[in-house]
Amino acid sequence: MSAPYKATDRLCEIISQDHHLLQMMSRFGIPLGVGEKTVAQVCEDNHVDTPTFLAVANYMKLGAATAILDIEKVSVEALTAYLAQAHSYFLSFQLPAIRRKLLEAIDCSEQNEVAYLILKFYDEYMSEVRRHMQFENKRVFTYVKQLLSGRKPTDFCITQFADSHKDIDHKLQELKNIIIKYYAAPADGQLLHNVLFDIFVCEGDLRTHCALENDLFVPAVKLLEETLKETADNPSSQENARTGGMTGAEALSEREVEVLRHVVRGLTNKETAEQLFISINTVLTHRKNISRKLNIHSVAGLTIYAIAQGIVHLDEVKMH
Ligand SMILES: [Fe+2]
Ligand SMILES: [Fe+2]
Repeated sequence: MSAPYKATDRLCEIISQDHHLLQMMSRFGIPLGVGEKTVAQVCEDNHVDTPTFLAVANYMKLGAATAILDIEKVSVEALTAYLAQAHSYFLSFQLPAIRRKLLEAIDCSEQNEVAYLILKFYDEYMSEVRRHMQFENKRVFTYVKQLLSGRKPTDFCITQFADSHKDIDHKLQELKNIIIKYYAAPADGQLLHNVLFDIFVCEGDLRTHCALENDLFVPAVKLLEETLKETADNPSSQENARTGGMTGAEALSEREVEVLRHVVRGLTNKETAEQLFISINTVLTHRKNISRKLNIHSVAGLTIYAIAQGIVHLDEVKMH
């Protein structure tokens, strides 16, 4: 099995082996001209969250089972921005470009009923995709923004979205088959072959997009929901968070400080869970919350923070 991409990989090398990364880069707002820089350096230069970039890249390369291992490191904010950018790409660029090519490739005169119906089918499909993505932009992403601001609306949850979320690539597959089977194109119909090729690519791209929403986005938002629920259920930790006396954007709760102390001493999530009598999932939620609050994602960085804040002493820390 091939290895997952790492923050220290040179971006130019991995792009040249995997063209999907090009599309990903544009959706993360990363321009070309990456020189010899590593993934982490390029992400940092472009203010992109490196763990989120890697989670998406590894999802494309190795599938959900590998990508989900790092789910607690994923920034919901960065992943949502990535998905929103993909929506703009489909709605404003890829689907209209296919329509323009279809118009050129098929005989749209009134006499050709099959061509007319193909175009009508495509237009209805585009409207369906637009509705699907606008719902996500307006309802789901707005909900996520509220979660990120620390508020948990009571009239919606991400499971509702997951339960009703449908694939949107199957109609494109149907259209492709209709053209292949029933549209009598001239023998040298290069334009039609070309547009069919684009439809194949778009179909795969839409399939991956929806799968990414199911396999990465939904679990990442669920973790965020759990974190907020825990804070709401435990007002004392909220109080601690307010009065913890730490510097930085957001102070840690007492429980989070405990988890941090264990992590920087080199204990595994399982060992931390056992010592604190909590589940591994709760440890993961705390770790995600700690990293989000401090904006520090590596154990080395957390160790420096913990020493600087007097949470641990240098001699207690297992150096990484
Ligand atoms: Fe979407
Ligand atoms: Fe979707």
